[in-house]
Order: sequence, then structure tokens, then C-alpha cells
Amino acid sequence: MSNEVFTLRVNGTDREVKDSWLGESLLDVLRDRIGLMGAKGACTQGECGSCSVMVDGELVCSCLVMAATATGQEIVTIEGVAPVGSPSDVQQAFVDAGAVQCGFCTPGLVMAVHDLLERTETPTDTEIREELSGNICRCTGYGRIIDAVQQVAVTRSNGATS
Ligand code: FES
Ligand code: FES
Repeated sequence: MSNEVFTLRVNGTDREVKDSWLGESLLDVLRDRIGLMGAKGACTQGECGSCSVMVDGELVCSCLVMAATATGQEIVTIEGVAPVGSPSDVQQAFVDAGAVQCGFCTPGLVMAVHDLLERTETPTDTEIREELSGNICRCTGYGRIIDAVQQVAVTRSNGATS
């Protein structure tokens, strides 16, 4: 398979990708070619949600997307959610609620919660559990994560912005 050079738009910046093979996953390109290590490869089979990123506004498992098919699309990773040192409301709520878990599941969970709250302003517990069902953690419960989601929903409905 020949090497290709292509450009991905990631977090608002065009990034040239070199030395990638055509079937390489978006997850591997983000991490190994571009150097964005926030998305994690835990299962690399679309099961765990650790690699979640947004592509043209849709939450996807980057381990299942061929990077070369994402040219011309707006990719947002966990690094693009908020500036360094200025966490998003979701990130801050995770901290405040004690919902930050390990570095594998947390980035994907934060991406999923941002996506959920863009589509559903005040989700119920059931809706939150359903939406996060693709983000797997076998270490602990999801209670504090749900608390964090509800905290953001309440704050946003009171007029605060992210
Ligand atoms: S690493 Fe992509 S879903 Fe688990
Ligand atoms: S997988 Fe991250 S705390 Fe369990």
C-alpha cells in the first residue's frame, strides 16, 4: 500500500498527514501522525468509546474511521473542546462532581456528554445512561458522571454558557 499525503482539519487547523497508509484509522493518525494523544485506543473495535471524536458534528469512534475519508471534514478532538487551562463546562463539572476517572475513558465520556447536551438540553437519567452506553468503564459506577451531566444541564438552562 502506497504512502499518501493528505490534509485533515483538526480543531480548526489544517494538519498535513504524511507517511500514513490509506487504511490507517483516524485514531492512529490523530495520535501517531499528528500528535494529539487525547483520544485513546482501548479496544480499537468500536466497543468502548475511548477514541470518540466529532467529525462534522457527529460523534464517532475514530478507531473505526479511515483517516483519509475524513479529509474536508471538521474534526474535533478532546484537545479542541476548550483551551488548555480553561476547561469547558462539562470538563469542570466532571471535576466538581468527582467524575474524572482514568485517562482512557474520561476523554471519550467528555466528548459524548458534549454531544448529548448539544442535542438534548435537559436529559433524564435514562437518556444519559442510554447515550453513554457506548462509553465503557469496567472500573467503577456511572453515578458521578450522571451527576456531572445534570449539573451542566441545570447551569446551562439557567443561562450560563459553556
Ligand atoms: S478504541 Fe475505539 S471504540 Fe474502543
Ligand atoms: S476505564 Fe477509565 S476508570 Fe475504568
